[in-house]
Amino acid sequence: MIKDNGLLNLKSWINNSFSMPHSLCLLITNKCNASCLFCEGDKNTNHSDELLDKEWMDVVDQGIKMGVVDWCIPGNGEPLSRIELILKIFKTIKSKSPDSFCKITTNGSLFTEDAIKEFVEIGVDRISFSLDSPDEETHDFLRGKKGVFKNVVHALGRFNHWKSIFKSDKSKINFNTVLTSKNYNQLNELVDLASKFGVEFISLNPLRVSKYNIGRIKHSNLRLNSEQKEETIKQIQGNAELKLNGFEQLEMGTIANKSAEGFDENLPESSNFKNSFLNSPCFEPWLTMSINYKGDVGYCTSCGEWEKAENIKDKSLEDIWKGDSFKYVRSCILQHKPLESCFGCGIKIVRKNIKKELDEHFKNV
Ligand SMILES: C[S@@+](CC[C@H](N)C(=O)[O-])C[C@H]1O[C@@H](n2cnc3c(N)ncnc32)[C@H](O)[C@@H]1O
Ligand code: SF4
Ligand code: SF4
Repeated sequence: MIKDNGLLNLKSWINNSFSMPHSLCLLITNKCNASCLFCEGDKNTNHSDELLDKEWMDVVDQGIKMGVVDWCIPGNGEPLSRIELILKIFKTIKSKSPDSFCKITTNGSLFTEDAIKEFVEIGVDRISFSLDSPDEETHDFLRGKKGVFKNVVHALGRFNHWKSIFKSDKSKINFNTVLTSKNYNQLNELVDLASKFGVEFISLNPLRVSKYNIGRIKHSNLRLNSEQKEETIKQIQGNAELKLNGFEQLEMGTIANKSAEGFDENLPESSNFKNSFLNSPCFEPWLTMSINYKGDVGYCTSCGEWEKAENIKDKSLEDIWKGDSFKYVRSCILQHKPLESCFGCGIKIVRKNIKKELDEHFKNV
């Protein structure tokens, strides 16, 4: 959900003024210890071109100076492959910009006891565990690696332990679950597991299909067929907790599945404001920058790679934010012309929610 600061940033843009980014997404690494059947990450990446620790720390310093207050480490690979760097990044952000919100998405299988303790001690705000099934065999099958489920369950218990020791109300945990034909009928058990560990919510994610994963997805027959979609909806309707947390996102899953081959649902409907900026189908390029493992700068949470990307080795973050490539993407979005990477947009619900909030907030503009 967009926070007040994000609204403030957008208010400046609405008044034809300028604002620094609200969020930075750091796609630290493409390395991964798992081999998920549905992963979109490029498995053939040469890791030698990843940014060095000191280059990442420089990005963090620049972001803090620009006033970024929302930090996410989502990863094209498994961010905890560089666990020491992640801890250093979060520690630096929380000491220099204590009100910043810090979150990470992880397969949860590389945590050490010391790292969990430090995450809680530092006050990292949110840890999204990717858990695709409450059942060990199914989860490890989907993740392409034995032992991942056991490690996740162990880490969940240890987070709770350290949170109670430090009396911390941070380090909130949620599950990220990719809906497939292998797990659609396990949602009630997944909610039970979430409740057992005090997990705040489950984010049910549609299966995104791209040229990188279509072969594996077809081979394992992972997509939901229409009966399975119906069955999933029934489960959600029968479960109050799921209904609260997941229904809208399931709807998105159904749409994304339907559109995966034609990508016909890429932008939400626009509103009907006099102010043309408010009618934009997406506000991410005015709020967010994402930086991929080799330093290329993308224009939203969902995009770390695109054809006009500039690199932080050549220019400062601020110059890139103010520069021609960002101007270009903003003008395309304002004209309702999505960029190629928008066709696989992974954050439709986030965008819809921002839109709803803006509609409410600026209804008289
Ligand atoms: C790319 S992963 C990177 C972080 C980490 N390695 C992990 O798995 O959590 C980020 C999130 O995207 C999800 N994901 C991966 N491939 C996906 C796909 N084809 N469709 C939807 N979500 C996907 C993962 O399950 C994870 O929750
Ligand atoms: S753990 Fe994450 S990055 Fe690794 S293969 Fe799975 S989805 Fe991809
Ligand atoms: S990929 Fe999605 S979030 Fe990013 S600019 Fe395009 S529509 Fe917006």
